[in-house]
Amino acid sequence: MSGRIITLDEFIFEKQKDFPYASGELSGLLRDIGVAAKIVNRDLGKAGLVDHIIGQTGTTNIQGEEVKKLDEFANNILIECLKTSGECCGVASEEEDTFISFHESQRYSNAKYVVLFDPLDGSSNIDVGAPVGTIFSIYKRVSPIGGACTIEDFLQPGTAQVAAGYVMYGSSTMLFYTTGAGVNGFTLDRSIGEFCLSHPDVKTPVMAKTYSCNQGNYATFSPSVKTFIDYCQSSDGKKPFSLRYIGSMVADFHRNLIKGGIFMYPGTASAPKGKLRLMYECNPLAFLQEQAGGKADWGGGRIMEIVPTELHQRTIVYIGSAGLVEKLMEG
Ligand code: AHG
Ligand code: MN
Ligand code: MN
Repeated sequence: MSGRIITLDEFIFEKQKDFPYASGELSGLLRDIGVAAKIVNRDLGKAGLVDHIIGQTGTTNIQGEEVKKLDEFANNILIECLKTSGECCGVASEEEDTFISFHESQRYSNAKYVVLFDPLDGSSNIDVGAPVGTIFSIYKRVSPIGGACTIEDFLQPGTAQVAAGYVMYGSSTMLFYTTGAGVNGFTLDRSIGEFCLSHPDVKTPVMAKTYSCNQGNYATFSPSVKTFIDYCQSSDGKKPFSLRYIGSMVADFHRNLIKGGIFMYPGTASAPKGKLRLMYECNPLAFLQEQAGGKADWGGGRIMEIVPTELHQRTIVYIGSAGLVEKLMEG
């Protein structure tokens, strides 16, 4: 990247003019998420060295999944940073049974936003040092400002998101977000502790030769998914596709967002309606993907048009290069 460093804070402030309700609050919220990401990143770097990072907590979450220590650590960091931000009136998290309203502890009672997040995505990768991430989705509250949050603040379709993004903790730590005016990516410069603009105005290639799915479930995929995978694997004398699957949606999504490709989590025997969560995995990544010119579908329409009924509901997800999602939808 030539030219001077542009930090996340500077960029958000500069772009603030893009927000229809430029009041600095959404900017403040994005900055607070950036701070939380730096804290998680700091401790993630110690995984394997300090006890509170790797291993299990011995508890299971509402999803019935073992909660890793870093899931819980990241969850608490995000809740604290958002509670003290003053811009967020409540949160919902993969690791919390229901939403948390901040109105009693609110510094200002005029907080307008709610945030849903997956504090640590791909947590099965922590103990082996493979990439993990944080995913967040921001909505304007629909309940009266000043009072307690209601479930309706959180159960909004993805099309109502005002911002969404992810942090990927990999060989480098990156934060990508959108407010509906394109996608921009920042890389953490550890020497100055700042996220610096590294991927301005990201656009996903319309076609590519990478597909991501848990091939181990092939036998229980639907006929149309099998047809697509067979197409990917048939070379017809040309270069066949590459299968890339890290087991962390953020990392697989991030690679495909930049280089092109398709990530699929179809229905399987154990998860006929899909495994991944609509509100804090699929909707935010769908917002980013569409803003980068790609597509995000559940097999019957846009992910972001699903009208949610439950906080932790799951969905089938096909997300990535527009040409590949369209090819899959041909059936
Ligand atoms: P989380 O760690 O937040 O529970 O998410 C894990 C998800 C997603 O990151 C990944 O793509 C998927 O689970 C992998 O599922 P399989 O192991 O079933 O392939
Ligand atoms: Mn996840
Ligand atoms: Mn998670």
